[in-house]
Amino acid sequence: MPAKWSPSSWRALPARHIPSDYPDADALARVEATLRTYPPLVFAGEARNLKAGLARVAAGKAFLLQGGDCAESFKEFHPDNIRDTFRALMQMAVVLTFAGSKPVVKVGRIAGQFAKPRSEPTETIDGVTLPSYRGDNINGMEFTPQSRIPDPQRLIQAYAQSASTLNLIRAFAGGGYADLHNVHRWTLGFVADSPQGKRYRETADRISEALDFMEACGVTPETSPQMKQVDVYTSHEALLLGYEEAMTRVDSTSGDWYDTSAHFLWIGDRTRQLDGAHVEFMRGVKNPIGMKCGPTLEPDDLLRLIDVLNPDNEPGRLTLIARFGAEKAAAGLPKIVRAVQREGRQVVWSCDPMHGNTLKTGSGYKTRPFDRILSEVRTFMDVLPSEGAYPGGVHVEMTGQQVTECLGGATEVTEQDLSDRYHTHCDPRLNGAQALDLAFLVAEALRGARIEAKKAANDG
Ligand code: PEP
Ligand code: CO
Repeated sequence: MPAKWSPSSWRALPARHIPSDYPDADALARVEATLRTYPPLVFAGEARNLKAGLARVAAGKAFLLQGGDCAESFKEFHPDNIRDTFRALMQMAVVLTFAGSKPVVKVGRIAGQFAKPRSEPTETIDGVTLPSYRGDNINGMEFTPQSRIPDPQRLIQAYAQSASTLNLIRAFAGGGYADLHNVHRWTLGFVADSPQGKRYRETADRISEALDFMEACGVTPETSPQMKQVDVYTSHEALLLGYEEAMTRVDSTSGDWYDTSAHFLWIGDRTRQLDGAHVEFMRGVKNPIGMKCGPTLEPDDLLRLIDVLNPDNEPGRLTLIARFGAEKAAAGLPKIVRAVQREGRQVVWSCDPMHGNTLKTGSGYKTRPFDRILSEVRTFMDVLPSEGAYPGGVHVEMTGQQVTECLGGATEVTEQDLSDRYHTHCDPRLNGAQALDLAFLVAEALRGARIEAKKAANDG
């Protein structure tokens, strides 16, 4: 590790999954220089607010909901998509807030989630082999030699798309669209139409009653602005470090470095090498950060990574996002949770039930069965408390659109259905209904845990 951190100190270290095949390195450097002059997308004070919210999650006093596309794309860039994802996130958040009786910290995988690490560097179709698609900010998905060449101009387009996506999110969050009554009305519509309607009805009715009660007490959007305004934060994987470096600025208030491309950045499961470029870059920015933890992560290595990424043991700084897969979670998760608990490290534990549960169907679609996703979340909710830790959040790939990418859920997406609306540019996402299904089912678990805890307190 270089003794002195700077926004570019990562350049001296081995960097996985960053393309080295830009045909014109000078053109890339010129684009990065241009990006350095562009306005930050977020303000450091907002990142600090998010860190404070995550510190409350670390203390067991709030819950984290993080979700959005696996990969945003230029093609799916449309106000309706942004609106629908925002709306699905808000609905999930209300259901989870109610069930856990705790504030929900809302973070979108949005407004910058473009670059992807790929399992294979190349892709072969009908005997033709081309470089893999690596995300719309790097190359194109179209299967032609031209489209797969990395093009630095794509970074400028990704920046512009992130800026206008974030602008709309801020407008929705502050402008009244996220009014609690609105959000709940959408959810009542969902419950009425869902085959699982009966099961969800009780939770939905209790939320209605709570809102009526609050109104009777004079707590309305007019008297309490927090009922019609929400804080929503942005996040993406900090994979393409040239872009992240260009967006990293000194905050004039604190004198600290912040990566202003998003409020929250995370290190992927494939780029978390202790002596690698991604860990080096992330250790120096003050944003709240995350790290994906998969089945190959050894407890000792995790502790060393925590030493580097959160040396002051600051609560809210580091979120560990477990992504073991439904089968491996019960065996793998306790080991790492135990090590972190034993050493008294302050972290947020979140569960990504998507990336360990991907499979390929006979017809070649990458998909994820809803049951396995749910099963991994349930295991997470069981294991964490049994190790004395708090199951603090979920991290999901989702969209508000009615796509058919993941199997199952209340509306029963079948293998035959997958081809109907399979639009993702990378991994399969929960559709709007499946995402809300998941929220209701996680809500049941949260509520169960809350009732247990109350009982234990009363008995004690
Ligand atoms: C992702 O979150 O899209 C991703 C690539 O995850 P992971 O690093 O956990 O594989
Ligand atoms: Co993904």
